[in-house]
Amino acid sequence: MTRAQSAPGADSTGTSSPSEGPIQWGLLPDSSAVGSDGRLSVGGVDLVELADELGTPLFVYDEDQIRARCREAVAGFGPGVAYATKAFLCKAMAALAVEENMFLDVSTGGELAVALAGGATGASLVFHGNNKSSEELASACRARVGRIVVDSFDEIDRLETLSDTVVKSASVAWPRLLVRVTPGIEAHTHEYVRTGQEDTKFGFSLASGAAGQAVDAMRRLRGFDLLGVHAHIGSQIFEESAFAGEVAALAPFVIENGLSECCIGGGLGVAYVEGEMTPSITEWAEAVRSAARLAGLPPEVRLTAEPGRAIVAGAAVTVYRVGTIKRLPGLRTYVAVDGGMSDNPRPVLYGSGYEAFLPRAPQAPRPLAARLVGKHCESGDVIVDDARLPSDLAVGDLVATPVTGAYGYSMASNYNRVLRPPVVFVSGGRWRVVVRRETVADLLALEA
Ligand code: LLP
Repeated sequence: MTRAQSAPGADSTGTSSPSEGPIQWGLLPDSSAVGSDGRLSVGGVDLVELADELGTPLFVYDEDQIRARCREAVAGFGPGVAYATKAFLCKAMAALAVEENMFLDVSTGGELAVALAGGATGASLVFHGNNKSSEELASACRARVGRIVVDSFDEIDRLETLSDTVVKSASVAWPRLLVRVTPGIEAHTHEYVRTGQEDTKFGFSLASGAAGQAVDAMRRLRGFDLLGVHAHIGSQIFEESAFAGEVAALAPFVIENGLSECCIGGGLGVAYVEGEMTPSITEWAEAVRSAARLAGLPPEVRLTAEPGRAIVAGAAVTVYRVGTIKRLPGLRTYVAVDGGMSDNPRPVLYGSGYEAFLPRAPQAPRPLAARLVGKHCESGDVIVDDARLPSDLAVGDLVATPVTGAYGYSMASNYNRVLRPPVVFVSGGRWRVVVRRETVADLLALEA
């Protein structure tokens, strides 16, 4: 289990209550360090200087941490374990995953295009989606994607039509197919990110026999080769036992149908707030492998996964600037920053918790209880419902939220016509903008 650690030199003797203490060090990116001036640097780059130079809000990713998590995944599951790009994708991220020998899971034509633009080969792509259009399937075939994860009987019909048209051409490769199944596992996570249960829009049910029928139908498809099975039971899951249950449910199906690949999807959770415990990628892979042995999955079956959140979430912090502080006597204090639900919709969507700290003083105690809110025109625009902050917080300060690397930028919007922040990779004392800040010209670019 990985747990957030105390900051080096920070008071860990319990003289102040944990929630009023400094931000837990383990929630910050791996390369975090405190300078002699007490300020936080990530990847050797001072966050205050970076924000002064690039403006706010700003997503800052510890590039070495992403690489380390990719390597852990490859060591745990073998080369070709896929990175789920929905967690965070831009060309630089795709290139990084490719350099680290990962495959990439893409689930729309858009993700497919960005992954290819970032240098991924078609062969390294796993194409997902519960409602892939004929155009998307044709693009996937033209891109020579290695695998298509088939999700419905309608998709099988579309593939049949494709095999008569697009794939006939010699210049197009036949992707291999995985059948997406629902193993009937109810993971303990938010309802919106649970997918393994029977009542779901994804995949074919193992229990009802639909998965078996899909296998038969896929085997009748000309040209396409059925390779294996795929399942994904949900996201932000902490219990290894849920994944072990998934493997136990999949193994008989793999054996019965003589399949050679078994992908358990993603879903490994990360710690967002103080005190949360989560298995590491290595522990997750070990648990999955030992469940496979226990279930009698033949060792020659390629057992793989596609983590998203666990690769990128903890690598990033979002840096905002405080614009207003409103103290409502007897009620609460509102601290408003220059972003909000447009760069992090997770609190609004899932009630997700985050923490906050000041990059100028990451080791400062945080006795001030406040609601950290954004600049959008609705009360639900909350980033941290019950944030703890240093008492000398002032307008103009930078406030950062850690663990924002997954499903933050990738779900960012232009609500209220807010401009999406840039994304910066830091490493070895250097930074590079991998996605620039949006401009008003970008906002108007689509308009007639
Ligand atoms: N594979 C498939 C087929 C998936 O649907 C997903 C996530 C993953 C892999 C990666 O899961 P991860 O390792 O990141 O948990 N927006 C939500 C999360 C939605 C996840 C959707 N599918 C959130 O912010 O929590």
